Amino acid sequence: MSGFFVLKTFKLRFTMTHLIDNTRTYFFGRSYYEIVSCFGLHEGTLTGKRILDCSAGPSSFAAEAPKHGFEVVASDPVFYRGYDSLKTLAYSDYEAMFARVRAKSGLFVEKTFKSVEEAEKDRYGALKIFLEDYKKYYPVGRYISAELPRLPFEDLSFGTVICGHLLFLYSFDYDFHVESILEMCRVAAEEVRIHPLVTMSGEMHPEVGPLMELLVSKGYRPEIIEVDHEFFKGSNKTMVIRK
Ligand SMILES: C[S@@+](CC[C@H](N)C(=O)[O-])C[C@H]1O[C@@H](n2cnc3c(N)ncnc32)[C@H](O)[C@@H]1O
Repeated sequence: MSGFFVLKTFKLRFTMTHLIDNTRTYFFGRSYYEIVSCFGLHEGTLTGKRILDCSAGPSSFAAEAPKHGFEVVASDPVFYRGYDSLKTLAYSDYEAMFARVRAKSGLFVEKTFKSVEEAEKDRYGALKIFLEDYKKYYPVGRYISAELPRLPFEDLSFGTVICGHLLFLYSFDYDFHVESILEMCRVAAEEVRIHPLVTMSGEMHPEVGPLMELLVSKGYRPEIIEVDHEFFKGSNKTMVIRK
């Protein structure tokens, strides 16, 4: 068995151990503008900043940030794979994800997109931008393999850390949420943003309140903000944890 195969197996197994049920996370992403609105970021205030997009998936945020005047490093556990392998994974996960969205169409909110088809077109567009950028900028460290609850970055090495469509949405346990959020706070100099705060059924995750109390007890300033973005029911809220 080659060393590469052993490493790959270990990584997949490690990801699964944090999930309460057998649901695996999908390698799925969004466009620059969708990420900006999900997290309630204000473009004018981002100039010169360095942001970590943790659990980035194949989003085009990191690829498009430089033309808007700031830098994004994208991290994801599968960012050790090559271009062809990621492309195959993404296309198969997009198909599976949109089949799930259509099966739960009652949860879709006509706001950010007029239809699921419009969202699909936008997100496949972002995927194409990501794939071309990954090929070009992986060698210079724009895309880094990293898996919560540990991050391979120095303390305070990014102004803002964002984490989208991972925590709360998938069935992770409380300890994983605590460790992951504190780890992101360690590498963020100013703030951490988490979106959304609901479970797959569109209800606010029951651990959001207790986690905010814990963060306050550790000296952080967590706040829930309403954002101008909603794809599925209840997903218009983001947690901002200021330091
Ligand atoms: C549904 S995608 C979300 C992508 C993007 N953040 C967004 O909002 O569109 C979830 C991503 O989390 C990644 N992931 C899974 N387990 C993770 C972990 N333990 N730490 C960080 N990312 C993880 C997956 O590989 C996947 O790309």
